[in-house]
Amino acid sequence: MNTQAITPAFTHKPKILVARAIFPEALAKLEKSYEVRSNQSDRIFTPEELQNALSEVEGALVAGSERIDASALSRAKNLKIVANISVGYNNFDVPAITAAGVMASNTPDVLTDTTADFGFALLMATARRITESEHWVRNGKWDQWSIVNNPLGMDLHHSTVGIIGMGRIGQGIAKRALGFGMKVIYHNRSHLSVEDEKSCGATYVSKEELLRTADHVVLVLPYTAQNHHTIGAAEIAMMKPTATLINIARGGIVDDVALAQALQSGKIFAAGLDVFEGEPKVHPELLKCSNIVLAPHIASATEKTRRAMVDLAIENLDAALAGRKPPSLINAEVFGA
Ligand code: DGY
Repeated sequence: MNTQAITPAFTHKPKILVARAIFPEALAKLEKSYEVRSNQSDRIFTPEELQNALSEVEGALVAGSERIDASALSRAKNLKIVANISVGYNNFDVPAITAAGVMASNTPDVLTDTTADFGFALLMATARRITESEHWVRNGKWDQWSIVNNPLGMDLHHSTVGIIGMGRIGQGIAKRALGFGMKVIYHNRSHLSVEDEKSCGATYVSKEELLRTADHVVLVLPYTAQNHHTIGAAEIAMMKPTATLINIARGGIVDDVALAQALQSGKIFAAGLDVFEGEPKVHPELLKCSNIVLAPHIASATEKTRRAMVDLAIENLDAALAGRKPPSLINAEVFGA
């Protein structure tokens, strides 16, 4: 008897969660291989909704808005992977995810240049007062060209940029700064290799020396409990009154209240922020400052890069659910355990 002819063609499609809105083509591709529970309304789940959703699936695509910890995973008995659509993963409690035997992945590399471009754009806009100037024009304040009574900024060329956090994105900013003839100093948990220092033209200094000597301070370090308020009132007090501060890392790295006070009292020249403590809320004192450029966490936001981030997250999820090692696995010890 030909058993193949009568065997029902059961196809088990693994269940997955897509916790935030993604590109329609990516969702359609996922639907071919998986039973997809997707949240295309883009409304952020409550912790209870997230816990429920994770309890039903084998894989999940999430973003920084989803806090993945022991509580979120408490009923996720079949979950194999949480794939973050983000390079930063401070929304992950990695020890808790690992203890639950779940793989965790992120999206490095694909956003490095886009994010470094944005960091440099924010630096230029801040130093040269571009948004403040635009408001000036729109509000009818521009009545004549003036040598002194127009918004005067700070130079980038041949100035010193101090980069705190010298990973891939920090190095990308350093390389862009070289094209402007800038001197690059950096502070990081560890020194770069001699070759990497050379290719970035960067010199390692202490955090204090960086703050005291840089004309422009750029923050690109990951958020951890130890990095909370890396820049607070004491650090700002070390900076030059002519200095700018750029944060494309995470809210919480900077004490926003201390920064607002420093901007209002002229302790530093200006700031450019893409990330905020408690975002998307922005501290009202920061909103009162004119010497600030504000952006809504868009450093990686180009169409091409956001698609590449989603694609890499899907690659990680596909690999985990097929028993292969995800390309950007964070907790390697879980694979094959
Ligand atoms: C990242 O990838 O970390 C971006 O900041 C988006 O969260």
